[in-house]
Amino acid sequence: MNTPVTLDDVVRLLAENESEARRGLSMVPSENAMSGISKLPLLLDPYHRYFFNESDHPDRWHFRGGQRLRDLEMNLTVPLLRELGRAEHVSVRPLSGLNAMALVLAALGGGPGSTVVTIAPENGGHFATASLARRLGLRVEFLRGAGPHELDLEHAADLLARVRPTLVYVDQSHCLFPVDVASLVATVRASSPGTLVHVDASHWFGLVLGGAFRNPLDEGADSLSGSTHKTFPGPQKAVVLTRDAAIDQRVRETQDYLISSHHFASTIGLGIALLEFRDCGGPAYARAIVAHTRRFGRLLDERGITVAAKDRGYSAGHQLWLDTEADGVAPKIASDRLFAAGLRVNFMAGLPGFAGQGVRIGLNEPTYQGLAGDDLVELADVFAAAVHDTEPSRELADRVAALRLRSRFGATVDSTSPLLETALALCADALRTTPATSRHAQAVAS
Ligand SMILES: Cc1ncc(COP(=O)(O)O)c(C=O)c1O
Repeated sequence: MNTPVTLDDVVRLLAENESEARRGLSMVPSENAMSGISKLPLLLDPYHRYFFNESDHPDRWHFRGGQRLRDLEMNLTVPLLRELGRAEHVSVRPLSGLNAMALVLAALGGGPGSTVVTIAPENGGHFATASLARRLGLRVEFLRGAGPHELDLEHAADLLARVRPTLVYVDQSHCLFPVDVASLVATVRASSPGTLVHVDASHWFGLVLGGAFRNPLDEGADSLSGSTHKTFPGPQKAVVLTRDAAIDQRVRETQDYLISSHHFASTIGLGIALLEFRDCGGPAYARAIVAHTRRFGRLLDERGITVAAKDRGYSAGHQLWLDTEADGVAPKIASDRLFAAGLRVNFMAGLPGFAGQGVRIGLNEPTYQGLAGDDLVELADVFAAAVHDTEPSRELADRVAALRLRSRFGATVDSTSPLLETALALCADALRTTPATSRHAQAVAS
């Protein structure tokens, strides 16, 4: 029988997890951290509220809880996304990258029986795209390439001319090098005029907003989406951007039937994270991610770990793929050893070019946590010692904890600032609503 969990247990477990997380480093490329102040809305009243009335029409405040904070979405989050994403129209309704994928396929994929073209998983396409599209009644064809990091544009031209898809959905997920969007768009325009091109930059969204990657909209894509919690240090959510009013209209007409609550508090948190990104070094952060990733690939290689795509400089983004199997350590074992040393990484099958499993890491969160310069050499030393099991994990974990004492990217708020005092008071107040036992349990007992 499972032991019942009490509220005391919950708080104790959260505290234990917090101290472990603060001593460790997450190197999972699809996750990131965010600032304390951007998490504040999640603890407060907007977390419970729906918000639909973007136009502030007096007759449309059917849900009034978002009324006072409307401007935080409409005058903070939305304009910052327009500015950083260089797009006139944005939707902040998707809850995650996969949810944005469903929205875009439903809005732009055409009716049942239409064809969408996406990237083959062997070439880095997301595992869910084809299945999701088929569930919407769409036919699916794949862009392919000779190697794990290539797309064959001649094959693309033939395919597009033959199947005349409604939409090309560019869904690089297991990806070390970005598709040349401009060349792909030119191929689509020449081979299948009228076909829309959507780029799902979920993994690379922070790199796009920070200018380290070219913006797919500048390259001619019709629309762009991305998760806001991978290379962008924001809440778990996603957004869709376009410069085309007709596409925006189709997204809006569809989203009302796919998403009700868009998690208003997260949307406000996203606005805060965007403000910090713009004003506290976001572009430098994005550039540092790329530089750190390439450097870390070399440092691991020098320490006897097989890193994919060495001939191409390991990576153009934030991910690195490690073939520890080739070094005699099964990826699951490598991940266990790294975990014991305070480092969290993915082990997984399906990395393009890998026959079995591999280890996938990202330098996005370590960079957000402030690691730079010689820290990367220390991290690589710890990482390699953990994988090869050459030093006690407890000592390695202490060295990782020492790396965590770096300050985060961007300025940290002064601990005596009135802003922090007010935020702390709000948190304390929110926590005081916690009953001694849950309200539900009391209601049942009475
Ligand atoms: C291209 C692409 N689309 C969608 C997703 C799903 O994103 P999320 O985990 O935010 O739902 C991913 C995640 O890796 C992705 O790479």
